[in-house]
Amino acid sequence: MTQTTLRQQFQTTGVDTDLMILMEDIATACRMIADRVRHGAFAGVLGAAETENVQGETQKELDVISDEIFQEIVGANPNVAALVSEEVDDVNWRKVAPQAGDFVVYYDPLDGSSNLDVNLSVGTIFSIVRLGAAITPAPEAVQIKGTDQIAAGYAIYGPSTGLVITTGHGVDGFTHHPGSGEFLLTQPEMSIPSETQEFAINASRYDLWDAPVRQYIDECLRGANGPRGKKFNMRWCASMVADVHRILTRGGVFLYPKDSGNAGQGGKLRLMYEANPMGMLVEQAGGASSTGYGRIMEVAPTGHHQRVSVILGSRDEVAVIESYHKD
Ligand code: AHG
Ligand code: MN
Ligand code: MN
Repeated sequence: MTQTTLRQQFQTTGVDTDLMILMEDIATACRMIADRVRHGAFAGVLGAAETENVQGETQKELDVISDEIFQEIVGANPNVAALVSEEVDDVNWRKVAPQAGDFVVYYDPLDGSSNLDVNLSVGTIFSIVRLGAAITPAPEAVQIKGTDQIAAGYAIYGPSTGLVITTGHGVDGFTHHPGSGEFLLTQPEMSIPSETQEFAINASRYDLWDAPVRQYIDECLRGANGPRGKKFNMRWCASMVADVHRILTRGGVFLYPKDSGNAGQGGKLRLMYEANPMGMLVEQAGGASSTGYGRIMEVAPTGHHQRVSVILGSRDEVAVIESYHKD
């Protein structure tokens, strides 16, 4: 992973050693989370609330265990000014006087954790912003647009452990090699085909969708004889990491739109540690990411746990869905 990322950066801006070390720390945290996830029920309780095990010991949820690992490893990096986690309400300040050049790391320590109970793929998502100037620690100081991300990625804990990253120079996929303990390059320059015939959405929310989403899915379902003139396949993993990994591998479009059931919260998925990093990866792989009305990464955050409508994947399909929103 280090070699590949260094090579990407040499071609453009030169080597950013601080970023390299931070990425290595994140990769280490992900390896440790992968190890705990692999232990399944032996690692702690799975998706459920805190309970006691058969020995009467208190067990923590894997979400919480993963958050603690990330905090311990990545929070110890001397250039990290703050961590923003799905599992922690407040911003976790690591410096009292953050300076220009320090990093803010946003992360979802265990995405798709409802899948733990049924032993399906989960992951860790991260986003990295570098401060342009010294700041005073306050929640507003980390409410930074996705266009300011300098790197983003995710680890996927599936049949194998993968790591997919971008530093703004394309997207590379790595597989954890158990023998060496390294992430080795297995999917260089991942690229999303502009066209697709596969969509991912939780269709049980059909009655809650806005008209443009309903129109798009209705047209997909009508197949070769419908207005799209082609048959579509459907997948829904209920794990954004797994769905986005499939899209980066073979194309497709993913929707978790704002609907009448979640509109009060602004949507379901979180802007700063789910939508922005996935948006950056998808755009870097030649795809598009949108709220339906504009680019996700241009949304100005008003809270670090803010939610947003998410439509991302193959460029042409996202354009079709955006055009229905405009109409
Ligand atoms: P998390 O486990 O971090 O809370 O995120 C789950 C998210 C995302 O991974 C997935 O796409 C979506 O929630 C699934 O939602 P539904 O259960 O509504 O399908
Ligand atoms: Mn999540
Ligand atoms: Mn999570």
